[in-house]
Amino acid sequence: MSEPRQILVTSALPYANGSIHLGHMLEYIQTDMWVRFQKLRGNQCIYVCADDAHGSAIMLRAEKEGITPEQLIANVQAEHSADFADFLVDFDNYHSTHSEENRELSSLIYTRLRDAGHIATRSVTQYFDPEKGMFLADRFIKGTCPKCAAEDQYGDNCEKCGATYAPTELKNPKSAISGATPVLRDSQHFFFKLPDFQAMLQQWTRSGTLQDAVANKLAEWLDSGLQEWDISRDAPYFGFEIPGEPGKYFYVWLDAPIGYMASFKNLCARRPELDFDAFWKEDSTAELYHFIGKDIVNFHALFWPAMLEGAGLRKPTAVNVHGYLTVNGAKMSKSRGTFIKARTYLDHLQPEYLRYYYAAKLGRGVDDLDLNLEDFVQKVNSDLVGKVVNIASRCAGFIHKGNDGVMVAGDAAPELTEAFLAAAPSIAEAYEARDFGRAMREIMALADRANAWIADKAPWSLAKQEGKQEEVQAICAQGVNLFRQLVIYLKPVLPVLAADAEAFLNVAPLTWNDHQSRLENHQLNPFKALMSRIEPAKVEAMIAASKEDLLAAEAKTAPAGNGELAKDPLSAEIEFDTFAAVDLRVALIVKAEAVPGADKLLQLTLDIGDERRNVFSGIKSAYPDPSQLEGRLTMMVANLKPRKMRFGVSEGMVMAAGPGGEEIYLLSPDSGAKPGQRIK
Ligand code: MSP
Ligand code: ZN
Repeated sequence: MSEPRQILVTSALPYANGSIHLGHMLEYIQTDMWVRFQKLRGNQCIYVCADDAHGSAIMLRAEKEGITPEQLIANVQAEHSADFADFLVDFDNYHSTHSEENRELSSLIYTRLRDAGHIATRSVTQYFDPEKGMFLADRFIKGTCPKCAAEDQYGDNCEKCGATYAPTELKNPKSAISGATPVLRDSQHFFFKLPDFQAMLQQWTRSGTLQDAVANKLAEWLDSGLQEWDISRDAPYFGFEIPGEPGKYFYVWLDAPIGYMASFKNLCARRPELDFDAFWKEDSTAELYHFIGKDIVNFHALFWPAMLEGAGLRKPTAVNVHGYLTVNGAKMSKSRGTFIKARTYLDHLQPEYLRYYYAAKLGRGVDDLDLNLEDFVQKVNSDLVGKVVNIASRCAGFIHKGNDGVMVAGDAAPELTEAFLAAAPSIAEAYEARDFGRAMREIMALADRANAWIADKAPWSLAKQEGKQEEVQAICAQGVNLFRQLVIYLKPVLPVLAADAEAFLNVAPLTWNDHQSRLENHQLNPFKALMSRIEPAKVEAMIAASKEDLLAAEAKTAPAGNGELAKDPLSAEIEFDTFAAVDLRVALIVKAEAVPGADKLLQLTLDIGDERRNVFSGIKSAYPDPSQLEGRLTMMVANLKPRKMRFGVSEGMVMAAGPGGEEIYLLSPDSGAKPGQRIK
């Protein structure tokens, strides 16, 4: 064998503000299969990943949940890690971009780029939310489309007519965060001078590092000329402050890919045999592969190699791009129940079913992959249960009954033995090229041959005849040997099936090269069912549960943020218990005042009998003279989780009706109600 290769592999770092779904899993499962294949072959292969923890979306979600961003990302990381582990995705390290290693490496790379003259600064004019005190990314601005006048469109494009525009062209713009009217403001920004790397990228993207379709797409961008890339964001932002630039933060996409390095560095501290610099220095002989989805190609195949080059580090060996997951031929849909979270799947089905299905359908291209649920059930049951496991279950019983579980020596079907051996290089090649579909087809073709041979020999009829015991044992030993080879070939995809098979075969963990040997005069352990069929009812239950997820999520997010009135009434029905869990109280408005710096908010001091509450409410537009509210009774939600806002903590919510603006009507009980009384 040639020298073992040194390979570092990554999957894209999932955002720390949402759950993992089956679309994500397409990426992590395929990367894991490739890594397991490399390890099985005896290569040194390291698989690292991390949560992508920075950015304004994460900051805002934490605020909404009334927790710190650090708490949010810790919770999400625990959830993600459990999802991956239960899908048998075996990272060597799973870290976070909000880590010391990443802070140091991001500073290092930035200062190297800056010192080499690759950073520019200039002033940028952008919408600013005066109430929230922050600059607004395009997706946080909503307004009326300048082309077709559709309302409630995002700051960069119209979903109605498809027009794209600058946020400043939007009519009647509003902050999607506070509802305030944004104002234009200037701020100094930092840019990475991507055009400095045009020639390098032109060459690098065409040097076998990318699939053809990806290289062609990039050629379009390269030909039309590269733009400088804005890598800074103003406070408040959850991220790393730019060295020497107080109040300026690295844009999340600057430090996200550096998170690959940071995760590896964190691992090196635990694994002394790993040398960080050996993997990342400019002339490293180690291989580096990134697995990503097609939506984030520009970050990985333009910005990232340019950053690495500019900082004097090695570039990726290849960026492996995959398409998107569709379910039953369409985009994953919450209302159809096909937006399936990793955890919802795991609550109903075995991870290896999906691993096999993805493997069977994955090619080298960037096409989307369809999870057709009927085909899924049919294919898994027919291939894994009907073909592979069937070989062992057909043969094991006769060996136990007729020969105390000992496999006899000898080769009952030399032509099959030869075919199974000869297939190995081609299957390995398919794995290496990430053509998992071809690998699975070749393996199943072998399984078909084995089954046909056993059916032809029919040991079950021979076993009933006098004097055929030797033949039965020879056939069944051969069958188990063929099964063992199939298990080796499938081990990257089906690690649990492989471990269970190793227990039955009574052998040490199998490696790739073990396909060259056979078991002879070998004692087996008792055979237990290795895999059961998928029951279609389980799939239906998973779809039903995914629809429930949606209702639960809607119920959680319905009250609009920031004391603003809820825009969308709850449309989903709720259980009585859910309603009963809301602690509604009569509240006396003791004090009502405007909030300096906020043009929509009032600060209310509410008396609810045994205690006083501080509540911020977005009702100022209807009550320009807040003192008129003092002394009046209203109703409040008293057990709403406190929310930290820029102006203080809001400890509940008052109830009002109306569309907004001047038309906001605070609810009041009939006279006679007392502060603190529960509303039932
Ligand atoms: N945080 C960034 C990646 C930073 S890498 C330095 C990100 N996160 S993500 O959570 O949105 O996506 C993580 C990976 O999952 C991406 O490669 C993305 O393409 C992939 N997928 C997300 N949804 C997907 C499907 N529906 N189908 C297939 N892959 C999908 O992007
Ligand atoms: Zn429009």
